[in-house]
Amino acid sequence: MTDTTKLYLPPAALAEKAHVSGMAAYDKLCAEAASDYEGYWSRLAREFVSWKKPFTQALNSSEAPFFKWFEDGTLNVSYNCLDKQVEAGLGDKVAIIFEADDGKVTRVTYRELLAKTCRMANVLKAEGVKKGDRVVIYMPMSVEGVVAMQACARIGATHSVVFGGFSAQSLRDRIEDAGAVMVITADEQQRGGKSLPLKAIVDEALGLGGCDSIKSVIVYQRTAGKINWTARDKWMHELTAAQAETCEPEWVGAEHPLFLLYTSGSTGKPKGVQHSTGGYLLHAALTTKWTFDLKPDDVFWCTADIGWVTGHTYIAYGPLALGGTEIVFEGVPTFPDAGRFWKMIQDHKVTIFYTAPTAIRSLIKAAESNEAVHPKKYNLSSLRILGSVGEPINPAAWEWYHQHVGGGRCPIVDTFWQTETGGHVITPLPGATPLVPGSCTLPFPGIMAAVVDETGKDVPNGQGGILVIKKPWPSMIRTIWGDAPRFKKSYYPEDFKGQYYLAGDGAIRDEKTGYFTITGRIDDVLNVSGHRMGTMEIESALVSCTDLVAEAAVVGRPDDTTGEAICAFVVLKRPRPTGDEAKAIAKQLRDWVGKEIGPIAKPKDIRFGDNLPKTRSGKIMRRLLRSVAKGEAVTQDTSTLENPAILEQLGQAY
Ligand code: PRX
Repeated sequence: MTDTTKLYLPPAALAEKAHVSGMAAYDKLCAEAASDYEGYWSRLAREFVSWKKPFTQALNSSEAPFFKWFEDGTLNVSYNCLDKQVEAGLGDKVAIIFEADDGKVTRVTYRELLAKTCRMANVLKAEGVKKGDRVVIYMPMSVEGVVAMQACARIGATHSVVFGGFSAQSLRDRIEDAGAVMVITADEQQRGGKSLPLKAIVDEALGLGGCDSIKSVIVYQRTAGKINWTARDKWMHELTAAQAETCEPEWVGAEHPLFLLYTSGSTGKPKGVQHSTGGYLLHAALTTKWTFDLKPDDVFWCTADIGWVTGHTYIAYGPLALGGTEIVFEGVPTFPDAGRFWKMIQDHKVTIFYTAPTAIRSLIKAAESNEAVHPKKYNLSSLRILGSVGEPINPAAWEWYHQHVGGGRCPIVDTFWQTETGGHVITPLPGATPLVPGSCTLPFPGIMAAVVDETGKDVPNGQGGILVIKKPWPSMIRTIWGDAPRFKKSYYPEDFKGQYYLAGDGAIRDEKTGYFTITGRIDDVLNVSGHRMGTMEIESALVSCTDLVAEAAVVGRPDDTTGEAICAFVVLKRPRPTGDEAKAIAKQLRDWVGKEIGPIAKPKDIRFGDNLPKTRSGKIMRRLLRSVAKGEAVTQDTSTLENPAILEQLGQAY
C-alpha cells in the first residue's frame, strides 16, 4: 500500500500556469469524458491533430474489440510533426538537440528536419517502398533514426523499429513476421566509447533465412568502421543527396497502421503490436502536453531508446507534434562518468526530464560512492518537471530523485502505460495531482481504468485486483500483426466477457484517495531494467541449446537496481556441474541467450539441478522456484514434489 499521509502538492507557480491547472480542472476533464465520451475525444482530436479530411464519427465499435477511431478522417503524421510547425512560423526553432556519445552536439531546426525527412521519404519511394509496406529500422539513437521513422510516416509505410541491442536471431524473427521490404540500419553504433556492430548483425540476420521479402538495406554511416558490403546495400547519404527536399505527404486514413512494435507476452514469440495513425498521434500529442506540461520554451529530454515505445511516443512523435525542442542522446548514463545525465541537463538547460527507475537507482549508487557524480555538483536549476516510466519506482528512489535531481521543487510524474496503450494511461498531471511516492496516482482524463476481480467485477479500494481499462481509447493497440485471435485472447479474454482491455498488471487503489499502485505483472512477463521479457522466450532460448540443455525454467526475482532479475533453473544433458565447471557452463549459457535474444535477456542467476521441482502430475512448481530464486526459506508444501532433495542443489546460483 502507498503511504497517503505523504502528499506532495504541485508548486503553486507551476500549477497556476499549467495546461491542466489544479484538481478542479482535472475533475472537469474527467466529467466531460464521463458524460460524453466520444464528444470529449472528438473535441481533442480536432484540437490536437490537423486533418486533411475531417472525421465524422469518433468511435466505431461494430467489430469490437477491433475498435476504430476517427475512421473516415485522413491525415499524415509527418505533416503534423513537421510541416505544421514550419507553416506556423517555427521553421527556425530547434526541434532536436542531438548529443553524441563523445559529447558532440548537433542542432536541427524544424525546417531542416522537414527537409531531411522529405529527402529520406523520396529515397524510400525511389527504392520502391509503397504505402502499407513494412520497413524495419535497426538504428542507433540519432537524428537519422527519427528521420527514418518520420519518412516512413510521410509515405504511409509502416515502420517496425527493432532495438539495437537485439540479436540477429531476434531481428530476423521480426523481419520475417512483419514481411518487411527494407531494413534501415547504420554501419555501427557508438555507446560508452565503444563501437558496436549494427550492419554486421543485419547481414547475419538476413543470412539466417526467411527474409526474402527484404529488397534493400539502407545504411547510415555513423562511425565509418569497416563493414561488409553486398549488392543490396546502399549508403543513406548517397541516396538522400540525390533526392529533393520536398515530398508531398501521403494522406492516409486514421486507422492506417503507423507502426508495429514487437513486445513480449507470456507465451510464444514476441507479438507485433499494431498502432493506428490518428488515434495514436492524438494521444502522443495530448499526453506530451498535459503530463509533461510542455510549453514552447521547454527543453524536453526523454532518455528512452527509439527501439522502445517510450522512444516512439515521447521522442519520435509527441514532442514534435507540439513544436517542442527535445534532446536525442546517443550514449549511456555512465559514460564518460555517471554524471553524464546531470551534465547534459546543466549544459542544455533541460526543463523536463523523463527517465526510468533503473537508471535512477544505478545513478544513486554511483553518486553515493563518488561525490563527483552526485547531482548536487551540477546546476540543475533549469528543471521544472521530472518523469518516471517503465517499472514501479520504489519510494526511496522517488524521494532521492525528487530531492537531489529536482531540488525538492519538481513534481515527478510516475507514468504507467504499455507498448499496447500507445501513451500514458495512469499518471499524475504535474500542475494538478498531489503526488504520493510509488503511486502512478489517477487515470489520464478519458481513460477508464479500474481494478476488478477474475470475473470482471469491481473490487473495493484497498483490495488488490486486476488492472483493466473499461472503454476503448484512441491510442490503444489495434491488433497483433497477423494474429487477430491472439490479440483477442491476450487483451479481451472471455473471462471478462470480452468487454475490458486487460493490461496484464495487478493494481490496488488506495482506500482514501483512490490512487492506483501497480503491483506487477500477473502473467509470465518479466520487467528487467524497464525492459519487458517473457519467461517462455528465455526458456525457449535456453532449451534451443540442444547440446547442453535438457530442460529449463525461468522466473524473476527482485533486484535492487534492475527491479527484477532473470533467474534460470537448468537441467543439463550431462551430470550436474559444480564449482568452476558450473561457472563456465553458466557463462556459456548466458552467451547463448545473448545470441538468441540479445544481451538484455541474459539470466543473472543460473542454477543447476538433476531435475526441476515438479508435482507428481509433472507440473513445474514455479511458485516454489520463485521462493528459491529470492533465497527465501521454502514454506510451500513440498510433499507433492517428486524429489525434494533437489531443492538443496538449486540453492546455489552461478
Ligand atoms: O508492468 C508494467 C510496467 O511495464 C509494462 C509495460 O512494458 P512495455 O510495454 O515495455 O512499456 C514500457 C514503457 C511504457 C507494464 O505492463 N510499467 C510501465 N510503467 C510503469 C510500470 N509499472 C509500474 N509503474 C509504471 N509507471
